[in-house]
Amino acid sequence: MKRIKNVYALYFSPTGGTKKVVETLAKTIANQLEVDCVAVDVTLPNARWKTLVFGTGDLVVFGLPVIAGRVPNLLLPYVEECIVGGGAMGVPVVSFGNRNFDDALVELRNLMEQAKFQTIAGGAFVSEHSFSRSLGAGRPDANDLEEIKAFGVDIVEKIQNKWQYEAPVCVAGNNPPNPYYTPRDRHGNHIDIRKVKPKTTDVCTGCGICASVCPLGSIDKENPSIINGVCMKCCACVKHCPEGGKYFDDTGFVYHKEELEALYAERAKIACFL
Ligand SMILES: Cc1cc2nc3c(=O)[nH]c(=O)nc-3n(C[C@H](O)[C@H](O)[C@H](O)COP(=O)(O)O)c2cc1C
Repeated sequence: MKRIKNVYALYFSPTGGTKKVVETLAKTIANQLEVDCVAVDVTLPNARWKTLVFGTGDLVVFGLPVIAGRVPNLLLPYVEECIVGGGAMGVPVVSFGNRNFDDALVELRNLMEQAKFQTIAGGAFVSEHSFSRSLGAGRPDANDLEEIKAFGVDIVEKIQNKWQYEAPVCVAGNNPPNPYYTPRDRHGNHIDIRKVKPKTTDVCTGCGICASVCPLGSIDKENPSIINGVCMKCCACVKHCPEGGKYFDDTGFVYHKEELEALYAERAKIACFL
């Protein structure tokens, strides 16, 4: 059996759901193995400049939010160029907003394998939808956290049962992944929210919190009502603003949000693969 010396919780998490899932899983694994757990948060642009090199002796739980049924495409260059598995054990994790994780987990599993991780397990977990306060509200909740911890215990058992890497872990999803999920309006037309950006109300005090939490560094620090760059609709600015000063009013965006809330109100199940 390979001796694991370090467990890493590696995540991109604009509104904190993925972070909670990944840290819970990684800490459980580390506790069981009696080793340290190191958190590596790559949410902000200034955390994504250096290459991360892992190796044998490391176990990396890597989590990303599901965006349109896939991993965030804006993050692909960073993941492909700056994360090196070096034979480390890998646990791909995706968090989704109560609709579906579609092919995101298989895509992340493939990315980790390409980066020379040996994937041993993978999971898809629910956390509150970026767009909404009701969709997946409160998740991951106490039940989820218990399931995540039990999954961590199962992963350690698999390692201790003399697990030898033979092939990538089998997870749900189409391989190769299907195209990005595209929402439609009631007439069947595609809703394209790629260019939509948040707006700012008069309650904005200019404190700059929204600029400091934007994972793409797209909000002007001096004047936060100016969006200089690309927006991935992660809603970190909306959810972190203490005044409630950021919002989206694009018709397609609002329609899609309301449609999701109506269609996916029922509690979605999480999925663990060993
Ligand atoms: C542009 C965009 C697209 C999304 N697409 C999906 C999706 O296809 N399925 C789903 O269930 N959740 C989807 N979500 C919701 C996020 O995956 C979910 O809220 C995630 O847990 C957020 O992670 P975070 O709290 O770490 O930021 C989407 C979110 C955004 C911003």
